[in-house]
Amino acid sequence: MPDGARPRVFVARILPAEGLDAARAACDVDLWEDDLPPPRDELLRRVAGVDGVLTLLTDRVDDEFLDAAGAQLKVVSNYAVGFDNIDVAACARRGVPVGNTPGVLTDTTADLAWALLMAAARRLPEGDRYVRAGQWKTWGPLLLLGPDVHGATIGIVGFGRIGQAVARRAQGFGMEILYHDLQELPDEATSPLGATYVPLEELLARSDYVSLHVNLSPQTRHLINAATLSQMKRTAVLINTSRGPVVDQHALADALRAGTIAAAALDVTDPEPIQMDDPLVGLDNCLIVPHIASASRATRGKMAAMAAANLVAGVRGESLPTEVPPPT
Ligand code: DGY
Repeated sequence: MPDGARPRVFVARILPAEGLDAARAACDVDLWEDDLPPPRDELLRRVAGVDGVLTLLTDRVDDEFLDAAGAQLKVVSNYAVGFDNIDVAACARRGVPVGNTPGVLTDTTADLAWALLMAAARRLPEGDRYVRAGQWKTWGPLLLLGPDVHGATIGIVGFGRIGQAVARRAQGFGMEILYHDLQELPDEATSPLGATYVPLEELLARSDYVSLHVNLSPQTRHLINAATLSQMKRTAVLINTSRGPVVDQHALADALRAGTIAAAALDVTDPEPIQMDDPLVGLDNCLIVPHIASASRATRGKMAAMAAANLVAGVRGESLPTEVPPPT
């Protein structure tokens, strides 16, 4: 970049003003204004020669992307806490830091996980469809019965920031809280939450609600599959606000049809959007929303500000406020 020139950046979607204004104040922004992600060819064309890119989880950043961008690229700032769309090792090999947006979406995501849990347990979407279809004729002692949430057992798989925020909500409902993670956390972290570490198999066998909060990695892809579903209670409800591929959807559809588990509530699917001929779409005991866990106005604004701060720091050659640690 010549002395005094403003950095050039590509921003892959319209963001809340908190981020877009900050990026525009420091950089010449080429903004992708469509609601849908840039098609791959267009993305590769638009990033050529830029100093920084602000990407979304729908934009794949890999060697092909980095080659197309060129050696002058100084930063990849992802507008998400998750970064499974980014080949972080490939970025590291080229000395390109990657930013993400941790922390600011923790409680908003946990709120949505809780909303899904409550809605699936108490069959809210079914009740709503029932009313709108004109089927509500009278109060019924056996109408739309579901399990209690208060006092039940929740199993939280992945006990990082968001998993722990879900545990705090579960405490308010007097639930027994089990968790599983790669390793057991220190007592100081888990005692205030009343959470007990158990092996995954035990968590699945004992939990009335299983809520997923792991990163997507080769180890967690299809963590929930026919075998693990069969270890769950027949009355269990599965909640996924992590990443779609953590669940084997065909196995889940089979399990929901066969009554291996009672219900599922998904914020994320594989692929996204879910195909309308996916068997899960036709199942009454599967609630699906379109990846909106962080979608509160305030949180999306904070994510935008954070992603812009990473972008601007990166193009200036400064360390990113929130950098994804490069693989060791
Ligand atoms: C993330 O940040 O990873 C979510 O999936 C979108 O907010």
